[in-house]
Amino acid sequence: MGLKVPYVTSYLTEHCAEDDYVSLAGYEAKGGYRAAKKALGMAPQEVINLVKESGLQGRGGAGFSTGMKWSFMPQDSDRPKYLVCNADESEPGSFKDRLLLERTPHKMLEGILIAAWATGAEKTFIYVRGEYAFPADVVQRAIDEAYEKGILGPRCMGKSFAHDVVLMRGAGAYICGEETGLLESLEGKKGQPRKKPPFPAQYGAFGMPSTVNNVETFCHVPHIVDQGADWFRGFGTEKSPGTTLFGVSGHVVRPGLYELPLGTPLDEIIFEHAGGIPGGRKVKGVIPGGMSMPVLPAGQLDVPMANEYLRERQSMLGTGGIMVMDETTCMVRASCIITYFFRDESCGQCTQCREGTGWLNKIVNRLERGAGSEKDIDILVDVAGKMEGQTICAFADAAAWPVQGMIRHFRGDFEEHVRQQKCPFSGSFEL
Ligand SMILES: Cc1cc2nc3c(=O)[nH]c(=O)nc-3n(C[C@H](O)[C@H](O)[C@H](O)COP(=O)(O)O)c2cc1C
Ligand code: SF4
Repeated sequence: MGLKVPYVTSYLTEHCAEDDYVSLAGYEAKGGYRAAKKALGMAPQEVINLVKESGLQGRGGAGFSTGMKWSFMPQDSDRPKYLVCNADESEPGSFKDRLLLERTPHKMLEGILIAAWATGAEKTFIYVRGEYAFPADVVQRAIDEAYEKGILGPRCMGKSFAHDVVLMRGAGAYICGEETGLLESLEGKKGQPRKKPPFPAQYGAFGMPSTVNNVETFCHVPHIVDQGADWFRGFGTEKSPGTTLFGVSGHVVRPGLYELPLGTPLDEIIFEHAGGIPGGRKVKGVIPGGMSMPVLPAGQLDVPMANEYLRERQSMLGTGGIMVMDETTCMVRASCIITYFFRDESCGQCTQCREGTGWLNKIVNRLERGAGSEKDIDILVDVAGKMEGQTICAFADAAAWPVQGMIRHFRGDFEEHVRQQKCPFSGSFEL
């Protein structure tokens, strides 16, 4: 069937377009599970050190060091230890994990097996978002094959090491992508994030020490073990090594997934790889890392796509979901959509988040209708500022940042709605 979307590949997605790569035989024919074999011959601490040296940062949004996270797992505990693979991919604008789940399920399982060996975990829970029915089936088939061939089970690859993998599907809540909301949901409870500390390494799935990593993070691991930390550091920037999958959507000629080194300039991704803006129109703003990351204006697209550079522009890499908006876009209307999403998805535990997301949406809607005032714009800034850093999880920050970014760079759009008492963008897309 092959891959239908435009794409650029590197090591992570090299064989993604080949149908037989999904099967265990096809994966092994391309060197699959070679790295797991190598890792299982190393001391667990050696594997952790290698991943630390590689500088791999988690690809689930926060960009935390993977090797460091693995080292937080207690070594001397006799309680069972677990891994959790976060395949919730609920961030609007993000669709990279889907490709990996559908086209490279064994690479993810190989990364999981290596992480299990390194951390001493006896079981992995793969939590797949509810809407990903097809990817979940593909992964389940890969798990079954791995059991049949003795890669998983009581003696993984013939070693005296047991590891089980269980797949679970979510039910479509954004907050179940947040790692402790995910853990609650995994345990059959409401997906409401936990207060931290304790962190998952102390108190994770079913109260046991656990490590949560994103699908893409696991997929980089076999390459690091196979080719070494220096090889991995040959891609990307000094602080952000490796490639990542940029998912480009919105007003571009070729929306799709592009595997490129971290640090690739945003304008190169949009104009060279994704073909630029259709119809000769100009770009207006770009959300660089999934909907919760603050927008950048057209003048700042020379930024290298790595956290150390994006932070200087008051944004972040997030999940690498690049959403491009051209000059016909009404940024107030875009803010309506964004705030509506967050209002709907707040789990409601924290007052600042539950009330704040509602007020942001209400005020932005008022401005969009032409019923708002100049003071409303200042209230938006004030409410967003009061939501930041105050809550149980980072959802409230993720809801506040996009609004702050929109007003920081496109205050003119908000003021024009007040001045004209209507939306001045008749050509903009409908809600
Ligand atoms: C509101 C919210 C939603 C999140 N959604 C996801 C998600 O869908 N997938 C994911 O991998 N991480 C998501 N995360 C990040 C996870 O909490 C966690 O940091 C990540 O899974 C760790 O994996 P990594 O270290 O490999 O990046 C989300 C975080 C927040 C605050
Ligand atoms: S910040 Fe929002 S989503 Fe996170 S725990 Fe509080 S209410 Fe729930």
